[in-house]
Amino acid sequence: MTQDLFTPVKLGRTELKNRIVMAPLTRNRAAVPGNVPQEINVTYYAQRASAGLIITEATPISPMAHGYPALPGIHSAEQVAGWKKVVEAIHAKGGKVYMQLWHVGRISHPSLLPDNALPVAPSAIKPAGQAFTYTGLQDYVTPRALETAEIPGVIEDYRRAAELALQAGFDGVEVHGANGYLLDQFLRDNTNQRTDQYGGSIANRTRLLIEVVAAVSKVWGADRVGVRLSPINQFNDIRDSNPEALFHHVVEALNPFNLAYLHVVEVGMTGDAPQVVDFERLRKAYRGNYIANGGFDKARGNAVIASGHADAVAYGVPFIANPDLGLRLRQAAPLNVLDAAHLYGGGAQGYTDYPTLNATVA
Ligand code: PHB
Repeated sequence: MTQDLFTPVKLGRTELKNRIVMAPLTRNRAAVPGNVPQEINVTYYAQRASAGLIITEATPISPMAHGYPALPGIHSAEQVAGWKKVVEAIHAKGGKVYMQLWHVGRISHPSLLPDNALPVAPSAIKPAGQAFTYTGLQDYVTPRALETAEIPGVIEDYRRAAELALQAGFDGVEVHGANGYLLDQFLRDNTNQRTDQYGGSIANRTRLLIEVVAAVSKVWGADRVGVRLSPINQFNDIRDSNPEALFHHVVEALNPFNLAYLHVVEVGMTGDAPQVVDFERLRKAYRGNYIANGGFDKARGNAVIASGHADAVAYGVPFIANPDLGLRLRQAAPLNVLDAAHLYGGGAQGYTDYPTLNATVA
């Protein structure tokens, strides 16, 4: 039988009613101070529960992991209580949800960090560009290179956040290894120029990701852990001299875990000439479930599932404007237009006020 977006699938321990995954989407609408998920976030996620799997917006694992305003975190009891309501609302509508665990590394600003601390990174290399802060755009600063002796503390922050996510009732967690944030900064050689066991060779640069995946898997069981990578994305001023070799090594190092899934952003998010990775070859090297992401529509989504390239497809931007994206894809219904002015921050406008199909035709 040919499989498509609407065929159920089991990823690790998690049964999905369809293969349409809501990708992690930063929306900056947590209650501040405290960075706590609030009622409007519950409404937003519950509206999207027809996805086979929701992956939450990237969620900072510690106060030092924040890099944008009004992010909901996973490092306090209040945040766990807020997330619990999100999870319960998704489950009540028959959905599944993984939390994406995030440390931004150098993509931050002292004004977003405790005691105006410098952001931390593998090496003291300033990203090009500007940070989004509570007072507008400000130039990035040169981050502080983590001492080797501090790295166990970072891994412990991931482990504790994973434990808090378990307490909040999630179905699993996704380790954010993509898009130029901390773990990706360790992977790539334009941001990692360390001389200890976390830098230099590809195996050394992969070490932190693998140690984090191991720590989080101890809490959850690897069959409820996913990993997200973005091998050709240069967003956040990130590059590698040999992404093909690097990401093959990463995939081989992830194989023994038997994770719930590997989630791969197969496109770049900037206008830069893309770096090149053979995603067919990468997928074949990975021996588990694979979620593909990056500008898919219905036809291409069905095609990558039918061909066996992907087990599920993650849709990002289409889920912002279409709470009932699954139904719309199934019926080949027209999609709502994105309100690009209200992506980041604010209230209900451009967040929970997009009409469903039923409302549109009523
Ligand atoms: C963003 O806030 O722009 C953002 C956050 C996490 C990502 C990508 C982009 O993985």
